[in-house]
Amino acid sequence: MQQRFIRGIRYVPTLPTVLSQILSLLNDDKSSAADLEKIILNDQALSSKVLAVANSAYYGFRHQILTVTRAVLALGYEEIRNICLGASLMGFLHPSTFRDQTAAELLWLHSLTVGEAARLVGAHTRCAEADPSFTAGLLHDLGKVVLAAFFPEDVDSLKDLMVREALTYKEAEKALDLDHGLIGKALGEHWDLPPQLAETMGYHHDIHTGLTYFPLVAAVHVGDYLARQMGLGHSGNPDPPVIKEVVLDKLGLDQPQLKELSKTLNTRRLAVIGLWQTLVKS
Ligand SMILES: [Fe+2]
Ligand SMILES: [Fe+2]
Repeated sequence: MQQRFIRGIRYVPTLPTVLSQILSLLNDDKSSAADLEKIILNDQALSSKVLAVANSAYYGFRHQILTVTRAVLALGYEEIRNICLGASLMGFLHPSTFRDQTAAELLWLHSLTVGEAARLVGAHTRCAEADPSFTAGLLHDLGKVVLAAFFPEDVDSLKDLMVREALTYKEAEKALDLDHGLIGKALGEHWDLPPQLAETMGYHHDIHTGLTYFPLVAAVHVGDYLARQMGLGHSGNPDPPVIKEVVLDKLGLDQPQLKELSKTLNTRRLAVIGLWQTLVKS
């Protein structure tokens, strides 16, 4: 049955041009702020989103930022690229088009929180750079987003099965052959996303040290744990979050450090909610 979903991914629409242009910047070392500015200025909706986010409480600038050029200067190329990625992804897979709009909104809030958390973990442990960690965190549950958008009946069956048979989320996924990680990975390949993102989508739960991009996936694994523990947003999985011992070992993280990271993430709560409101709610 897994194959059914993976085959089904072929029918998921291809990415809008602006989104694939932004994604292609991720893999291009020679890309510059000027390239990004050109993409933004060609897209009216994206330009206004960038300005809205730059002026939001997430950044807390005291002066109003009135132009895209100013926003790029103030926030930096990588930050603006992340905003553009978030804004175009959430515009493309907007909750208003989902059958369960609230669940979709909460799933995006979960994704943004994991982005923020993975960025903190990456910076704290130096296992991965902060910026790719945010992007990988933001995208990690795309398999779930696409399931909710294009296969809502199967998401219902999963929920029913959990209740009827008293199964955990993971057990229900297994029983239905509906692994959101593998579906996300197939989607990453369908959309030609950079391989580190496809790997994060595929293995952020079933992480192991043989992965090519283990440190990045590990930052997201820990980020997912922290975000779910904090309870900001909802990924649709009600099970208590677990963190793999091997990840803690490899990143050199202990419980007191995890607690510290959790505290820091909590100080970003309102900022993340503000970003989510700007990207999803308006
Ligand atoms: Fe997940
Ligand atoms: Fe998640």
